[in-house]
Amino acid sequence: MFTREKHGVAQHGGVLENVSPALAASWIAVATNEELGDGPLQVWALGEPWMVARVGAARTLVAFADRCPHRLAPISAGRIIDDQIECAYHGWRFDTEGRPAAIPALGDGATLPPRACLRSVAAVAEHLGLIWIAIEDPLAPLPILSGASEPGALMARCEIVRTPASAVQLIDNFMDAAHFPFVHAATFGVPDAFEVSSDEIVRQDWLVRSTFSAPYQHHDDPLVATGEHPLVQDHTVTKVGYAGCNASLELRFPLTRGVFGIVYACQPETATSTRIYKVMARNDVDASGMERCVKDEDAILQEDLAILERYTTMNLMTDLTVEVHTRADRLSVAWRRLMSDMQHHPRHGIARDTVA
Ligand code: FES
Ligand SMILES: [Fe+2]
Repeated sequence: MFTREKHGVAQHGGVLENVSPALAASWIAVATNEELGDGPLQVWALGEPWMVARVGAARTLVAFADRCPHRLAPISAGRIIDDQIECAYHGWRFDTEGRPAAIPALGDGATLPPRACLRSVAAVAEHLGLIWIAIEDPLAPLPILSGASEPGALMARCEIVRTPASAVQLIDNFMDAAHFPFVHAATFGVPDAFEVSSDEIVRQDWLVRSTFSAPYQHHDDPLVATGEHPLVQDHTVTKVGYAGCNASLELRFPLTRGVFGIVYACQPETATSTRIYKVMARNDVDASGMERCVKDEDAILQEDLAILERYTTMNLMTDLTVEVHTRADRLSVAWRRLMSDMQHHPRHGIARDTVA
């Protein structure tokens, strides 16, 4: 059993599960714009159902716990009427703030119980073609997609994948570079580049960032086929891990002036399920090149899942004494420290991170 101490230090953080309450203080991608439409749509985060919808002429984005305060029916089964949300069960209506607007069974002009409110989230946003919620005030900002504003940049999204691997394990894996020559030997892993650089890691509030140079098999460079450029090229990598289940990657190729950005957002749906969104932007490919890139990124994710889905537990250790860490693991360790600090942030209830 791992028990969080009342004033425990970061090294004794213990474990993070896919539904750990600490993750409530982060942005969680819950759907694509297309999936939402106008809604209402039921989505899952941290083991609970949430309802998202666009309401009224202004299509105001709203998100609430998916539970009507009357008989706890899923409010996502209801409908949007003008600028109100109507429950499908007894027709109670709520405004965009979740306040009661009508209870048909009481007749017109009735006094409405003030407790008859939908439970709101702290924040809801649309960003990079995705819908995001923060159940509590988010500590870290929404992830930034590098390259999206470069002239000629194209944006694309990989296939959305649902996996039993945990969201925090997936981000930890994203922050890890030592697995490339082994897990990604069939895609971008350079076979003899085992050593991981130990460049500086910067912590800025609720994110960690590292920039380093590394060799890369640049299959997307058209001048590789003509022999003008080598296949293995140096590139600059910037990785950012946010407190929560989001990370970003920026690749800069000096030889081609290419910029390739990825935002990797993992949605911890339930104790046993995670959905993965990968949004990309790059300025160095045409539409068919981007299509190929999406397929490559899909394949890279499957390579990671082949190992992560073999784990028999979805827990991520934030107690740094359990596993053996080396200097090659510095970035994922820095991110775990961030996550441990998130678990110990005073905003969270003390007893909630007790895990058997
Ligand atoms: S359960 Fe929603 S109105 Fe009764
Ligand atoms: Fe990987």
